[in-house]
Amino acid sequence: MAIYFAIFKLLLNKNKCVIIFRGRDFMNLPSLKDAKLRTKSEILIKENDYKVPEEMRKIGLGKKYYLKTYGCQMNVHDSENISAILEDMGFKYTDNLEDADLVILNTCAIRENAHNKMFGFLGRVKHLKESKPNIICGICGCMAQEENVVDAIKNKYDWVDIVFGTHNIHKLPFILETSLKQKSQEIEVYSKEGEVYENIPVKRDSKYKAWVNIMFGCDKFCTYCIVPYTRGKQRSRKKEYILDEVKELVSHGYKEVTLLGQNVNAYGKDLDTNYTMSDLLKDVALTGIERIRFVTSHPWDFDDKMIDVIAKYDNIMPYIHLPLQSGSNRILKLMGRRYTKEKYIELFNKLKEKIPNCSITTDIIVAFPGETEEDFNDTLDVVNTCKFDSAFTFIFSPREGTPAASMKDNLTIEEKNNRLYKLNELVNKYANINNQKYLGKTVKVLLEDYSEKKGNLMGYTDTMKLVNVKASDEYLGKIVDVEITDVKTWSLDGKIK
Ligand code: SAH
Ligand code: SF4
Ligand code: F3S
Repeated sequence: MAIYFAIFKLLLNKNKCVIIFRGRDFMNLPSLKDAKLRTKSEILIKENDYKVPEEMRKIGLGKKYYLKTYGCQMNVHDSENISAILEDMGFKYTDNLEDADLVILNTCAIRENAHNKMFGFLGRVKHLKESKPNIICGICGCMAQEENVVDAIKNKYDWVDIVFGTHNIHKLPFILETSLKQKSQEIEVYSKEGEVYENIPVKRDSKYKAWVNIMFGCDKFCTYCIVPYTRGKQRSRKKEYILDEVKELVSHGYKEVTLLGQNVNAYGKDLDTNYTMSDLLKDVALTGIERIRFVTSHPWDFDDKMIDVIAKYDNIMPYIHLPLQSGSNRILKLMGRRYTKEKYIELFNKLKEKIPNCSITTDIIVAFPGETEEDFNDTLDVVNTCKFDSAFTFIFSPREGTPAASMKDNLTIEEKNNRLYKLNELVNKYANINNQKYLGKTVKVLLEDYSEKKGNLMGYTDTMKLVNVKASDEYLGKIVDVEITDVKTWSLDGKIK
């Protein structure tokens, strides 16, 4: 089919470049070339109520779906949308893969190991499909936006039934119906800049805390990162929709919202107004929701107005995830991060000074192409200066199509692992020292779920410390005073005060 389109286009255009480009475009296959584009074209906001068409509401009756989610909170929230759509189609959820009639993998493309995990799991699904041939298998999320992944699925995994991307979750019922009717592999992925779909149904995982998208996509194009290609152009939601969503959550008894975006500090910069993240934070605070969090902050767009708002409102949590990525100015430049180590530390100090009791966590990449021992030591220096509450640390993973993937990589695997190990030792040391300060203190914790520790509930402090609390079920969903009785590197233990 693809070939027919290509020939058809060849006849029409007599231009080879156009053929390849148009071939993927017309076939609804992802295209790196399209995903890179950023134009001034207006973002389409789809405001109509979303409804699964009547004739598709029985497709899942008597059937179960299994949904596996990889990656960041964006994907976790997308999965909440996918669940709601599937349940509107009659499917029921199962957490047992063997029981499922439909298996959907919502994937992440951020590093090679995310790829490997998903292909590993796909092997299990294939095995299952050999004994239960009617199982439907679907792949969506960020890997579905990658040209090489979709080509591999078409060529080597022809038993996968449906593939859809991050821009067309709302099309799931249609794609599924077509695949079922035609017994065909249906792939529908768009690499255009993206639209904003309001009112897609959502089945939230928690009754107490909720994810709220405030923006989609990313225009920062850090040289190592695949996200701007898999999630499209930065598109902020209109403030009215965000505030209505938060107000509705409050009316349903939700205690906490986390405002989601790849660069929440840049909220509003793509809209035709002067309304920015600090205005939004203030308005969300005024809805009366008890706890507000936001991820992720890019140091580049963190302005003083925002710091003042966080400091002023008690229901904006004193917790900031502020990715550093590297402590070397040379590497930061190669990464396209647009700040220096000095600027980062200046911002860090300002946050600590103005927001009482503020905890700050970070992301760090080691072994970026060309990273010398000196560059790496600069990173360790910043960690020694900032003494982060915690950090997610990664070895650089080349992502096909990003500029850093073609930069020269000079280190052996052992050297990379050694750097990661050394960094983790330091990060853990400060995580532990920071946690020790909580011993004997009384803190507020939203008890959100059962803990892995028997007889305990778990939740987070204002500052995002995980606490296991000896408490009975009646405390679930409540924000309670907890006295910290024991401290570990990654969690605290406590009892109700
Ligand atoms: N929008 C966020 C980050 C989202 S991705 C920000 O700009 O801070 C989460 C983290 O994954 C990044 O902060 C980075 O540390 C890491 N990451 C992204 N691409 C990577 C790559 N190619 N290799 C290794 N780590 C990567
Ligand atoms: Fe990736 Fe950079 Fe955008 Fe974060 S800001 S999502 S690291 S490109
Ligand atoms: Fe992964 Fe996509 Fe999130 S690449 S980190 S799931 S935006």
